[in-house]
Amino acid sequence: MDQHAPVEARARLLAGQDMWTLPAVPELGFHGLVMSDGPIGVRGTRWTSGDPSIALPSPTALAATWDAGLARRVGSLLAQEARRKGVHVLLAPTVNLHRSPLGGRHFECFSEDPLLTGELAAAYVQGVQSGGVAVTVKHFVANDFETERMTADVVVSERALRELYLLPFEIVVREAAPYGIMAAYNGVNGTAMSEHGELLNGVLRDEWGFDGFVVSDWFGARDTVRAALGGLDVAMPGPTTVYGPALAEAVREGAVPEKVLDEHVRRVLELARRTSSPAETPPVDGRALAREVASRSFTLLRNDGVLPLTGTPRVALIGGLAKEARVMGGGSARVFPSHVVSPLEGLESAGLDVVYARGADPSRRLNPAAFPLRAIAYDTEGRLLGEYAQPDGSLQWIGQMPEGVDYGELGSVAIRGTFVPQTSGEHRIAIEGVGAFKLTVGDDVLFDGTVAPESDDPFAAFFFAPQTVFPVDLKQGMEVEVELVHRLVKDGMPLPFVGFGLMHREPTADPDTLLSEAEAVATAADVAVVVVGTSKEVESEGFDRTSLKLPGRQDELVRRVAAANPRTIVVVNAGSPVEMPWREDVSAVLLTWFPGQEAGHALADVLTGTAEPGGRLPTTWPARLEDCPVTEVTPVDGVMRYDEGVFIGYRAWQRTNIPPAYEFGSGLGYTTWSYENASYADGVLTVTLRNTGPRPGREIVQTYLAPARRDENRPSRWLAAFAVAEAAPGESATVTLDIPDRAFAIWHDDAWHPIPGDYLLHTGHSLTDTPLTTPLAHP
Ligand code: BGC
Repeated sequence: MDQHAPVEARARLLAGQDMWTLPAVPELGFHGLVMSDGPIGVRGTRWTSGDPSIALPSPTALAATWDAGLARRVGSLLAQEARRKGVHVLLAPTVNLHRSPLGGRHFECFSEDPLLTGELAAAYVQGVQSGGVAVTVKHFVANDFETERMTADVVVSERALRELYLLPFEIVVREAAPYGIMAAYNGVNGTAMSEHGELLNGVLRDEWGFDGFVVSDWFGARDTVRAALGGLDVAMPGPTTVYGPALAEAVREGAVPEKVLDEHVRRVLELARRTSSPAETPPVDGRALAREVASRSFTLLRNDGVLPLTGTPRVALIGGLAKEARVMGGGSARVFPSHVVSPLEGLESAGLDVVYARGADPSRRLNPAAFPLRAIAYDTEGRLLGEYAQPDGSLQWIGQMPEGVDYGELGSVAIRGTFVPQTSGEHRIAIEGVGAFKLTVGDDVLFDGTVAPESDDPFAAFFFAPQTVFPVDLKQGMEVEVELVHRLVKDGMPLPFVGFGLMHREPTADPDTLLSEAEAVATAADVAVVVVGTSKEVESEGFDRTSLKLPGRQDELVRRVAAANPRTIVVVNAGSPVEMPWREDVSAVLLTWFPGQEAGHALADVLTGTAEPGGRLPTTWPARLEDCPVTEVTPVDGVMRYDEGVFIGYRAWQRTNIPPAYEFGSGLGYTTWSYENASYADGVLTVTLRNTGPRPGREIVQTYLAPARRDENRPSRWLAAFAVAEAAPGESATVTLDIPDRAFAIWHDDAWHPIPGDYLLHTGHSLTDTPLTTPLAHP
């Protein structure tokens, strides 16, 4: 590094200059770096469908494949997307754990199990970095809930930290050498994670040998000196951060030693070097991969033989989500695909004979207006600054303004267009956003006032802004001018930001009529496929869930359709657990998670049997929220206590007398397996199993380690290894599973201690369906 570069220049390198980039610092030969959110795609620097991205299934879906090879291929595709968009650093993967099913961002994390999470994340990181693109594994650490996420302090034992929450990060560091880590917003045991020297410098760097850079979560760095000394290399986003000029000042005053500054700078220069020559990798077909991951992730929990469909049945396809698929969770994980294949399109294009009925909607929220629109920017005096194409009613200018607009001068932005209704009746038009608005439809001013925020999380206001809805009677074919003007208040905005939406919904029948229509189409069909799931109000960022019930009247819809047609298949389109009180009364239950842009094609593949549903639950699926052993997501007086220690997920369920609806690891394919033999020698378990069913299949072989004698201090069994097996009908497959020494160890007194003694390896199809038991003595 050029030691002669002024302190200012060196400090500038460590501070975001806008929402996504680090500035070029010519004095240091640094050309700047671009970061962008994942994990299911690479959004790039703009929040718009004008800059589309491949949208893959949610991380819970990827975890349901239990397939590291597939995760690696996902990583390679993401590197390709990043390079296409000029992105050097992908802000992913998210490896926090499913501690409580109420966690708002579960869809964005992999699993309740740290080994499954860590192994899939490591493969994902290898894939991304093999394409010359960096990752930031996030959010380090214990960011397993959203309520008060910016300020909450997590009180957690050293043992639970090591055995659960730190473990995925440790696995990724050791197996994939990630170029970056993102520090979480929350604190751990009294210290903010962006300032946590003990965990960032001590554990991550000194103990595990992490040699990459640490970035703050967005707006997560709060104190210049504490962050610099605590090991935080980069403060994002800009232009106002606690680094840059403030850091230069702290160095000059001696509060931060110059060698600390230089160490941070060195790591960022190294990051630039690592991402400067994108590797030439074979091109990946993003659409094909999205479709493959989706069908491999779909988790079949119940099947009375109705699936795969045979012959040419008449299919009643039912549900608001069957037409408007929810293919990803909300928040910073959102990307904008160029198209989404809904279940309806997917089934129709597979040649199925489909009749559609809406039945019920998961959400009362309106979608962005989809008629031709323009965005028009004015200065504070009302003078025109520019006019722009607006792909739909959702406008998000973040960090970067469109050409010709200087944020300082910007006074208001209008979304305007001419709407030609296709249907007569009561349309709904809504303002999405907070602040001052004027909504005009034709000659009528429907609103001229201010909408107040509903939450004090700045991101919640953005990701999940309130909608103010107005009914409007319109006639088919009678065009009408619609205009929504947003007057900006820029006080307190940390960066240039304009975000609001003009939303619309066609006239719809009343809910009772929709339900009756669904019953009628179900009665007349050979088979009914009902798609139910969650909404943006339920699974997103910046808030947790309050219930696991399906929103709206979807449970009633399933019951009524199942009563009307004995062959009812329920497709559950949710990123994390929901209650399914009707699950024993339907022919099949298929979880599709948030399936990504190729949702409908993958669904058709699985329903028709072109593909086998490959998913196994990466998280325990409760029957009811009340049954769950760990649910709390709300800090008390700013403190969130992880008092359950190492007992989360199946580790905790095993100690209750209540069975979940579906066990960790479970899921059906279209064939059957017989587990024939398992033998253990020198840390390796060799398992032979046979495909006893009628068609080729894939199975996830899972082995769980258990102390031979019950030990109250430890879970009764825990995942020790897993592998993918494939075999043709009648054929057998043999897989080998490495049982790492760590599987036998617990953390106490600042070290790992292997516990010697007799153990059993329970091997099979899921946590509890383990036909083979192999005794062993350790060491
Ligand atoms: C999220 C991060 C994300 C960042 C940038 C934060 O609010 O917690 O996961 O990478 O925003 O969008």
